[in-house]
Amino acid sequence: EIEFFFPREQTLAVIKPDALEEHREEILEHIRKGGFTISRVKETVLSKEMAEEFYKEHRDKPFFTQLVEFMSRGPCMLMALTKENAVEEWRAMMGPTDPAQAKEVAPDSLRARFATDILQNCVHGSTDRERAAIKIHFVFGDIRSEGDVAGDVQGQE
Ligand code: PPS
Repeated sequence: EIEFFFPREQTLAVIKPDALEEHREEILEHIRKGGFTISRVKETVLSKEMAEEFYKEHRDKPFFTQLVEFMSRGPCMLMALTKENAVEEWRAMMGPTDPAQAKEVAPDSLRARFATDILQNCVHGSTDRERAAIKIHFVFGDIRSEGDVAGDVQGQE
């Protein structure tokens, strides 16, 4: 019961297409063992448009097209994870963006263990609480936007 009184925080986590294919169960087990509650979950193929919107803050980066292609190439699993200090704890569990660096500084992290390179880096997590809230709303939204999202994704194929 005591848990009920702790402040809860949410983050948006994604198991990317490369990792969902190869390491789904191991990653989900990590999440559960880490004490996160998977409050919402959606497994879907992102449309290009959704991936572009999701990563819009990187629009001007040289790798943007590659990133969008990769994220929409197969199913990924999007989750709202709940835990005290969820944003920071999920980022710690993921490790640094580049798996080469992750292997050096955080060898037990998900990216050190399961990522291929800086693009195919197995998982995503929000950088702060505000962006987490925006992304959770974008992915899960209200009933209408959720329907729209599913419609977009299915409609693309
Ligand atoms: S930044 O510039 O610090 O804001 O970017 P960073 O957090 O390092 O990375 C943002 C996402 O872009 C992907 N990324 C890349 N993809 C392909 N090639 C290169 N060079 C590259 N650099 C970064 C990276 O996988 C990040 O994805 P997320 O999902 O946010 O981890």
